[in-house]
Amino acid sequence: MKKDLKKVLIINGPNLNLLGKREEDVYGKNSFDDIYSGLCDFAGKMGIGLSYFQSNTEGEIIDKIHESEGNINFFIINPGALTHYSYSLHDAIKSVKIPAIEVHLSNIYAREEWRSKSVISPAVTGVISGFGEKVYKLAIFYIADIWNVSGA
Ligand code: DQA
Repeated sequence: MKKDLKKVLIINGPNLNLLGKREEDVYGKNSFDDIYSGLCDFAGKMGIGLSYFQSNTEGEIIDKIHESEGNINFFIINPGALTHYSYSLHDAIKSVKIPAIEVHLSNIYAREEWRSKSVISPAVTGVISGFGEKVYKLAIFYIADIWNVSGA
């Protein structure tokens, strides 16, 4: 591993452990493990160290964000339904000096009205929503580009 390896942590919130089994028409047929192995190859080629954390518990996600200070350079976060109501998660992201990209597999603006409001968006650099599992890859591509490590 390179000494100056930049680190990105993917955080997935509640119910995203069920990707591939859960509402396949909305979230796709692949498990996150399947998606993650492709992402590790993609990030690895650009010298980005990827890690992954999923929890169904808001407090565990907040603890993970706090612990990441000094260890992680960028978050890619899919907060699941916490997106729509978790002020604690918003505050946790704002409490650390780690930039974040919010991602959603589905287009949250094209579904139920309550999903079109994100209380997380004001705390992050930007949002990628609606491109299925490719949202994670698009986020990594952006990070690689601003770090000037893109292998593309
Ligand atoms: C989601 C969208 C949320 O509204 C939902 O609660 C999820 C997944 C997405 O990836 O599209 O759990 O974040």
